Amino acid sequence: MSKVDVVLGTFYGDEGKGKIIDYLGGKADVALRATGGNNAGHSIEVDGEKYVFHLIPSGILNKGTLAIIGNGVVVDPKVLIEEINALKEKGKDVSNLRVSTKAHVIFPYHIEMDKMLEENRGNGKIGTTARGIGPCYCDKYERCGIRIEDLYSSRFHDLLERNINNKNKIFSLYNYPQLDVEKIYEEYLEYAKIIKEYVCDTTTLIHKLLKDDKKIICEGAQATLLDIDFGSYPYVTSSNPTIGGIISGSGINAHDIGEVYGVMKAYSSRVGAGPYVTEQDNSIGDTIRELGHEYGATTKRPRRCGYLDLVALKYAIEVNGITSLCMNHLDTIGKLDKIKLCVAYERNGERTTEFTTNEEELLSSTPIYEEFEGNFGDISKIRNREDLPDKALRYIERIEEFVNVPIEFLGVGAGREEMIHEKKLIKRR
Ligand code: IMP
Repeated sequence: MSKVDVVLGTFYGDEGKGKIIDYLGGKADVALRATGGNNAGHSIEVDGEKYVFHLIPSGILNKGTLAIIGNGVVVDPKVLIEEINALKEKGKDVSNLRVSTKAHVIFPYHIEMDKMLEENRGNGKIGTTARGIGPCYCDKYERCGIRIEDLYSSRFHDLLERNINNKNKIFSLYNYPQLDVEKIYEEYLEYAKIIKEYVCDTTTLIHKLLKDDKKIICEGAQATLLDIDFGSYPYVTSSNPTIGGIISGSGINAHDIGEVYGVMKAYSSRVGAGPYVTEQDNSIGDTIRELGHEYGATTKRPRRCGYLDLVALKYAIEVNGITSLCMNHLDTIGKLDKIKLCVAYERNGERTTEFTTNEEELLSSTPIYEEFEGNFGDISKIRNREDLPDKALRYIERIEEFVNVPIEFLGVGAGREEMIHEKKLIKRR
């Protein structure tokens, strides 16, 4: 491991980051989340027990691993406490949890605002997770946000009162119910007491740990095409789930980052609205959804499904500096008779391999596919890449050849062990 390794999503989230984080996390001293909030969700099965994480880095399951929620995360303390309690009920030790003093706090007005804004978007709905993420980041950048450290300050009541009074004015314009300052104040004072033992200056802590030669794994949330800058705006989340967000959301410097793992599936999926060039809104998409159990971990929504898009993958690699790929669900795509792989777009009568985040250009891009044979058979017991059927090898080697990055991890089944780990060295640019 390098000092800091990073795991990021390459498409629209739900690529199966949890599985790879679980695998790599065992080697790390620290597991870190730097962006997003409880809009994320990944489930992990350990010793027959299922754990669903929305906020706490899943690395906390590894004994002795410090789990850090960095300054870039937006924290709903109610959800955090529920997660802490759920872990404790399963006999897990949470004393290794740390939460940044500088993380912004999600309040009920953020959640109400998220729902209200979405209801009023008419045809332009984003399909947010309604967890208050966007409005909380809005307040952060508007500079009226309340940070974890403010919960312990004598200014807390005044800050909250000012914010709720302002939000109530907006709510009344939309005929939304008014929120009660005192009720929320009392509720959050209670939360503050419960989480106090975990709160600290995580940036200073991270640098102390790095000096002591500790290894950090950064658990990315959401994914590249949901990035507020690099995703398909406005159908994105409100943070930077790309490499820059790891740095600004933790205080880790670029110099300390080693491997950047890009997680993907052998096909693609998306929850929420927005353009999606390789979507199969037909029986093929339905088949992929059922075979891959493509239903949201956070909202349970059925995911839109489609073929793998190498134009978008190349873009994610460029934006993040991905050094290794982790491809899940090779077994799932291998159940189709024929597999298609998008190797270019046709836009305005021209063939291109350049991705675009412009909505109109994306909507007018038609995928150009290469076709591969499916029906790989049962590959779940295979642990060496060379033992894969030729049909499967042809598919993965074409992907590597196109993007010029090795697929280091290959998921061949849902189980923790059902993975091929092999770094096949191919020449990088
Ligand atoms: P928000 O992050 O709740 O504001 O939602 C904005 C968009 O990002 C919506 O399309 C969500 O479905 C999507 N989104 C947010 N978090 C995730 C995630 O963890 N996985 C997949 N999609 C997500």
